Amino acid sequence: MKLTFPKDFIWGAASASYQVEGAAFEDGRGESIWDRYCQTPGNIEAGDSGAAACDQYHRYKDDVALMKKMGLHAYRCSIGWPRIQPDGAGAVNQKGLDYYSRLVDELLGAGITPFITLYHWDLPQALQDRGGWCNPDTAKYFGAYAGIVFDKLGDRVKHWMTLNEPYCAAIVSNHVGRHAPGIRDFATALRVSYFLYVGHGLALKCFREGNYGGDIGIALNLMNRMPYNPQSEADKAAAVRADGILNRWFLDPLLRGTYPADMVEWYRRKGITLPPFETDELRLMSQKLDFIGLNYYNDAWAVHNPADWPEEAELRNPPHTPASVRDWALTETGFEKMLIRLKAKYGVQKILITENGTATHDLVSVEGRVEDSQRVDYLKRHLAALHRALAAGVNVFGYMQWSFTDNFEWAFGYDSRFGLVYIDYVTQKRILKQSGEWYAQVIANNGFDISDDYLASIGALKSSVGALKFSKGGA
Ligand code: FCB
Repeated sequence: MKLTFPKDFIWGAASASYQVEGAAFEDGRGESIWDRYCQTPGNIEAGDSGAAACDQYHRYKDDVALMKKMGLHAYRCSIGWPRIQPDGAGAVNQKGLDYYSRLVDELLGAGITPFITLYHWDLPQALQDRGGWCNPDTAKYFGAYAGIVFDKLGDRVKHWMTLNEPYCAAIVSNHVGRHAPGIRDFATALRVSYFLYVGHGLALKCFREGNYGGDIGIALNLMNRMPYNPQSEADKAAAVRADGILNRWFLDPLLRGTYPADMVEWYRRKGITLPPFETDELRLMSQKLDFIGLNYYNDAWAVHNPADWPEEAELRNPPHTPASVRDWALTETGFEKMLIRLKAKYGVQKILITENGTATHDLVSVEGRVEDSQRVDYLKRHLAALHRALAAGVNVFGYMQWSFTDNFEWAFGYDSRFGLVYIDYVTQKRILKQSGEWYAQVIANNGFDISDDYLASIGALKSSVGALKFSKGGA
């Protein structure tokens, strides 16, 4: 069967500044928390860092030419705050601004629409030294930084995202400690989640008041959490809490102006100091957005485990679950389910897929080819799921595959390859993978063929999620 997408559907690919740019110490860029975090042995696999990454800072023209060849309509990338304000506040580094201006011009010249994220985790270290996102000043500085970027690029850039994955920037960075700045304190993580949203609200306010034109959203990583044992009441409750911290803690303040009461109560009972929840700040964070960006990778199952503090929800895949090399389960029906939930439960009227993709062990063959058929398969499954959500009436206007190129995959360094384009990190040579060729065809045809047997095999879920009722209003 051929799956065709709506006319004007935007096909793109995504990246982030610290993961691709390299040139970490050039043209006046300040230190970011990731530069610092990578210095500590043990933090990053193989002791890697993003100091050189894909060198896109110098090779952006070649990269844009490759995007054009693939037919990409859009490129989602982020701005490195330390390039714009090396100290996070005050003095502006003109060379940093000029780089992004050149990149934007190159994209527009190639007919590719830039979608820009203001914060994809590379906080200036100088601000971390003053408490990072725990300090309300960081939110204010973020609002000011956003204004500087809007002033410089707002005449040409019409699609913005404030934050990327605030869950990771708050919880993985400050509770799990597996991302910069590597803190392990849950109250800190909650406070960070709150002031990230205050910063988001200030950037949004600045965008609206500045009348820059265009649309603005946020990119959230949302994935389903199911009970490992559906018969166990304890696992069911654990799944609700796991959903609470990953999904509802980040959706509710944006779309309802409140934090989920069950989670607030749970954390209070655990004796955790909660963020201030000030009325005016809640109002700021729940201003209307033009779209919600969804980063979707995989679902997971929750087991009640009191040792897994504070949610007591340990995540696992059931035995023999098909999964990627990162052990991320293949759960494409969950993608459809999450899209329907955003519309049915939160009334979201416009969604952009800001990330979706998988890691594979890619090798260059003697013919110089990269045959990443598992990535092609992952994309087929997820695009078919997206197509079902569209058919169910969810308004998704574009899809940004993660990632355009292989890149610096945070704590996993360079071994975790997510790209449509292979990077040889010794020579910086780019090779379009099999998946990149396949994706180019999807774009050219605005759709692709998929097996009827596969579609029939997932029909059961379609009818169950289709039964959810849609509500009106929301973002
Ligand atoms: C997301 C991040 C992105 C990339 C992918 C694989 O959590 O937003 O930068 O690392 O995962």
